[in-house]
Amino acid sequence: MCGTENTTLPSRRPAASNGTARSAPSPDTSSVINLDQGDPTMYEAYWRAMGDRCSLTISGSEAMSYLSNPKGPCWFLLPELEKSIRRIHRLVGNAAAEAEDGRYIVVGTGSTQLVNAALYALCPRDQPEPTSVVCAAPYYSCYQEVVELLQSKLYKWQGDAHKFNKDEPFIEIVTTPNNPDGSIREPVVNRPNGKVVYDLAYYWPHFTPITHQADYDIMLFTFSKCSGHAGSRIGWAIVKDKEVAAKMTKFVEVISIGVSKDSQLRAAKILGTICDDCQGANTKSENFFDHARRLMTERWEKLHEAVKRSESFSLPKYPKNYCRFSGEFFETHPAFAWLKCNDRVKDCESLLKAHKILARSGSRFGADPAYVRLSLLGREEVFNIFVERLSTIKIEISNGNGHHI
Ligand SMILES: Cc1ncc(COP(=O)(O)O)c(C=O)c1O
Repeated sequence: MCGTENTTLPSRRPAASNGTARSAPSPDTSSVINLDQGDPTMYEAYWRAMGDRCSLTISGSEAMSYLSNPKGPCWFLLPELEKSIRRIHRLVGNAAAEAEDGRYIVVGTGSTQLVNAALYALCPRDQPEPTSVVCAAPYYSCYQEVVELLQSKLYKWQGDAHKFNKDEPFIEIVTTPNNPDGSIREPVVNRPNGKVVYDLAYYWPHFTPITHQADYDIMLFTFSKCSGHAGSRIGWAIVKDKEVAAKMTKFVEVISIGVSKDSQLRAAKILGTICDDCQGANTKSENFFDHARRLMTERWEKLHEAVKRSESFSLPKYPKNYCRFSGEFFETHPAFAWLKCNDRVKDCESLLKAHKILARSGSRFGADPAYVRLSLLGREEVFNIFVERLSTIKIEISNGNGHHI
């Protein structure tokens, strides 16, 4: 995962004597809690309660070949996964993904790999200078890392899209809902010679109302945020242009000769189960999206309550919209809190660190360090400690030095 300065090693869960996984030990109420990374462990309890419905046995002789679908445009994409991806988009209505309408699916090792693949595919080859890659601030901090890592001759990071005013080719990444601040976005550059990559990692009904069917040239999605299975490292792109899809496929071929079939089988099964349940296959429990939305709503209520009690922070406001998937009106409940310290404090990350809360500074997202991004996707026990701790932080208004008690 990029941006891992604050990494605490994920606990390898000990196997219980009966062979089932145990819950991770609860954090001590005085220990440091890490809300820096958006690791979606909050959904573990749901999937555990599903028992063996999503279990998969892969025998030693299965899934051995590199090839999945040699005649398909993305030769390493398993037909089972392609079917589940198209099905879930049809069901949720969040993106146009039908093969009959000429939409190609390219699978990647996480959507992070597909950001690279999209840039590789879209950059013109006839330019004297690398193509500028921009994203409106505050932007997802990993884009910059991904773009700068290899110092490519094809593209270069140019930061905030609001500041881009050159008459040359550019690629704008539009993340909507946005990471870190949850805002609903559109391209901001709107100049000639530009290409847009839509990162729709959070355009799912547990995070935001599905207001329209997205139908852009390149749309990126990830299993990590759709169902919470970040460890499987599956992402996919929906691409309109066959040549672009072929170039993205080539990129993944050269970098990793395809994508783990074991992971693809797992993703196919889990996405298929989510669809089955939304279509009434499981009457015993809530479907995943209803469950996850209820959890996100509860977390946001607790967070607002903590911010109110503390009187030291503020949060963005989100509009209420009609969701075509659920048939209800509700607010966006982003995966991250974009928290701002009141005006007395210039460095919100340090303030929270002093209270044993690890967050990612606004400066990492091209924004003011008075902001931090906090993941709301962690385990229940950690989230509860976080809101409790946050609610007790009081910034003294009187002394003007940002001194906090
Ligand atoms: C906006 C956005 N895009 C892409 C990713 C990466 O997803 P993946 O786990 O599929 O690489 C993330 C992960 O946090 C994200 O927030």
